[in-house]
Amino acid sequence: MRKLFDRLPVALRTDLLEPNLTDETVAHKRKLLEVVDRDLRTGACPGCEFSGWMQPDTILSPDELARLKRTAERLRSETDVLLVIGIGGSYLGARAVIEALADDPDRVVYAGQNISADYIARLREKLERRTNKRGVAINVISKKGDTTETMIAFRLLRDMVGGDARNRIIVTTDPEGGVLRRMVDGGLYEMAFEVPQTIGGRYSVLSAVGLLPIAYAGVDIDDLIEGAADCAALCKNVDPLKNPALFYAVARNILYHQGFAVELLASFEPRLHYFAEWWKQLFGESHGKEHMGLFPASVDYTTDLHSLGQYVQQGRRILFETFVVIDKGERPLKIERGAGNLDGLNYLAGKEVSYVNRMAYEATAQAHREGGVPNMTILLERLDAYSLGALIYFFELACATSGLMLGVDPFDQPGVEAYKTRMFELLGKPGHGKPHSEPPSPQYVVF
Ligand code: PA5
Repeated sequence: MRKLFDRLPVALRTDLLEPNLTDETVAHKRKLLEVVDRDLRTGACPGCEFSGWMQPDTILSPDELARLKRTAERLRSETDVLLVIGIGGSYLGARAVIEALADDPDRVVYAGQNISADYIARLREKLERRTNKRGVAINVISKKGDTTETMIAFRLLRDMVGGDARNRIIVTTDPEGGVLRRMVDGGLYEMAFEVPQTIGGRYSVLSAVGLLPIAYAGVDIDDLIEGAADCAALCKNVDPLKNPALFYAVARNILYHQGFAVELLASFEPRLHYFAEWWKQLFGESHGKEHMGLFPASVDYTTDLHSLGQYVQQGRRILFETFVVIDKGERPLKIERGAGNLDGLNYLAGKEVSYVNRMAYEATAQAHREGGVPNMTILLERLDAYSLGALIYFFELACATSGLMLGVDPFDQPGVEAYKTRMFELLGKPGHGKPHSEPPSPQYVVF
């Protein structure tokens, strides 16, 4: 493991990228990086008006941060559950951090991230069972303020708060436009936080969008912000051999140009499952345009070693892997010596489960490299708010940088509109063309 940063709990292992790329090939990209980095930092790049995430400790003013903490604390003491309603960047960042770090992640539940009647109905039932104590608070989050999935879930679930909706429904939305803003301005809801106009959804986890639910879940948001801010301060060196975020950005760019089509984010810690979901959205929406970009996918190991692992080892050679591995801080849990050794596990007697998991990672990284899957590893010293904040910024910077290296605007998402346009036509939304008299009938083979 080569530690590129001394002052951050993040390191990058790069030896298993060879022979596809070496330090020398990475260093060759420095000229391009200098241009991209300068454009990003001076606001000259495409979409650069959305680079407000680059100063994580100034996204919220001290007063707003204090108000957000007070609100989260009040809701935490007055209610049992927070229902977060939102989709995409207005959902994934909060869930990523909460599932990774909260002591009781089940105190936060989610809606608006799908349009499943069954999901919504079951959630209602679940909340009804839990509201006999202190009840539910709702945080509805939408930058645009009228996203269909979010608004349907909000309409169907807002009565779940019971009691005083004005104090228990918190709206996070644009400071000026959109339906939710009109509801707040019209006095329907008192409590509101702003989605900064300089930050797009998928880069917004360290704004009120992510921080209010994260604080409700009991995670230390000061540590999260501090980790991100320290990473930002240390990620200014434009030499990719001295800056792991830029090394990572360059490595994925080189592998893309070598013909690799898919980047697999792989972790051996189930608590990082939703972090990978956040990462997929960040890179997928930022880079997948103009028929370009790596397809970001994720796997949970060792679970998926007994499933997709076969493909990774021997399928089409279109994959490379990025492991996220946690170095320390796992709970002590020893494998004891078993009488008679009937299960054959006594060769592990006295070993920690975390040690076995670590060896599983080592073995996987080596076997996949030997099978033609180059891989690198981001090593987190421990899984805590500070480290996760640093990792969030690490990926955001790498995503913006490698998007610009690819030649796309990493802050827009024009392709997302296509399904919406068709859906609104089919549903007959006013102002969206004539509704079809009948929905199109797909051809099915009937068995
Ligand atoms: O990253 C993005 O911009 C998107 O994924 C949005 O977050 C998502 O579409 C939800 O949008 P909104 O917050 O406007 O409801």
